[in-house]
Amino acid sequence: MTTQATPDIKSPFLQQQPVKMLIGGQWVESASGKTFETMNPSTGEVLAHVAEGDSEDVNRAVAAARKAFESGPWPKLTPSQRGRLLLKLADLIEQNTEELAQLETLDNGKPIKYAKGGDVPLTADHFRYFAGWATKIEGETIPVSIPNMFTYTLREPLGVVGQIIPWNFPLQMASWKLAPALTCGNTVILKPAEQTPLTALRLGELICEAGFPAGVVNIIPGFGETAGAALVAHPDVDKIAFTGSTEVGKKIARVCTDTLKKVTLELGGKSPNIIFPDADMKFAIRGALNAIYFNQGEVCTAGSRLFIHSSVYDQVMSGLSEGASRMKVGVGLDPTTDMGPLVSQEQLNRVTGYIETGKNEGARIITGGERPGGDIAQGYFMRPTIFDGVQDEMTIAREEIFGPVVVALPFEDVEEVATRANKSIYGLAAGVWTNDVKKAHKVAAALKAGVVWVNTYNQFDAAAPFGGYKQSGYGREMGHAVLDAYTQTKTVWVNLR
Ligand code: NAI
Ligand code: MG
Repeated sequence: MTTQATPDIKSPFLQQQPVKMLIGGQWVESASGKTFETMNPSTGEVLAHVAEGDSEDVNRAVAAARKAFESGPWPKLTPSQRGRLLLKLADLIEQNTEELAQLETLDNGKPIKYAKGGDVPLTADHFRYFAGWATKIEGETIPVSIPNMFTYTLREPLGVVGQIIPWNFPLQMASWKLAPALTCGNTVILKPAEQTPLTALRLGELICEAGFPAGVVNIIPGFGETAGAALVAHPDVDKIAFTGSTEVGKKIARVCTDTLKKVTLELGGKSPNIIFPDADMKFAIRGALNAIYFNQGEVCTAGSRLFIHSSVYDQVMSGLSEGASRMKVGVGLDPTTDMGPLVSQEQLNRVTGYIETGKNEGARIITGGERPGGDIAQGYFMRPTIFDGVQDEMTIAREEIFGPVVVALPFEDVEEVATRANKSIYGLAAGVWTNDVKKAHKVAAALKAGVVWVNTYNQFDAAAPFGGYKQSGYGREMGHAVLDAYTQTKTVWVNLR
């Protein structure tokens, strides 16, 4: 299928020429008048032209966010009113599920069944969970040892927050960033990824419809080196929250030191997924397939290093190749598609490059490793790929590939596998498959990762903290852990004498 130019979307959203950005409650073109193209990765065709933000637009958005934070209606709203706005937004997201899911699938490529069954409902859920926190962000009274002092703390918002998100879960990433920031009373400038700006902008329309005051949420589509960098460097931004590559995360952390902005970073991973011989093999194999191929492998937690006990290695490998070859690779909008295209030509080139490197370094492809042809040849597709004969030191076993490529690594015993699993600059996630409860807890404790899944993988819930050890980042998202990242504590001393 090569003709997806006029998708079946009822909303006039895609008919805009160009799709505009949101600054101070107004939908505007960029100050420069420039636009950029966002593509449909299933077909390689242009999906929409989008206003291209740059430093001038960022300046205007920061000014609008500052005004909204200091003197607009936003700081005067009660916590309950803030919570209600977030609940209203969650309802609007649900009411527009079909359209949001289609936009997400068209812009990112992911299968519509996941966009509709996962991305959109989880986005609504995220806003709903954080709506509840608006009324529960409490200070403390402190029993100081100085007589006659009444001492208490207030938890106040940080101010103006810049949020930069990636393209793998565009809508969900927007909710992970916006919901906690808003529930705590901050104002925001959100920069979606240049590959996938559409759902964040449609969400912006719903934010306006929900009744958030002007300037509370500003959305500036554009490129990282221009709009993103301007936001990070802006002296009137109090905090940057970023999800993306470790390389850019480090750059952002460096720039943030100039103004001592607060910064939280959710970065890359090379997550170990460990199958012990006492696991339920049917579940473990299915789990390993989901761990690597969900969302085309474009997941920061992807279980890309699969450690398999040598006694079950052959059994697992044949189950995996069978499962991988059964997956339907196809266009995102096809309801029977299991795996869509990669997000861009650039990402396809990166993944293809890693596959070549793996072969050159002596690893063997068991299945996949090539692009499907036929009627989907124009899209950025790559077949589910499994490498055998891999050494821990190989590039494909160390670096984040961010595509449907798993390396299989046999192991012999528990200590050995924990040591090898931890030998990575990353520490985002890990999986453990075993029916031995003692082993499960011991290995979970030994793994240096921000999240460990036992007999499951890729579980996320708004209530459960998520974030990285080591070079996978700073700070946590979700749960009450994230509230610390969007508030600051003020201690008030009152002399009662
Ligand atoms: P990236 O880190 O360049 O992009 C993520 C976001 O950061 C985008 O919104 C981009 O516009 C912005 N950005 C880029 N440079 C910036 C800068 N100098 N200042 C401010 N913002 C900037 O990631 P990219 O190039 O799209 O993907 C490269 C690799 O990064 C992937 O192959 C994958 O390994 C990793 N990645 C990890 C993600 C995660 O969820 N942890 C998400 C996306 C990519
Ligand atoms: Mg796109």
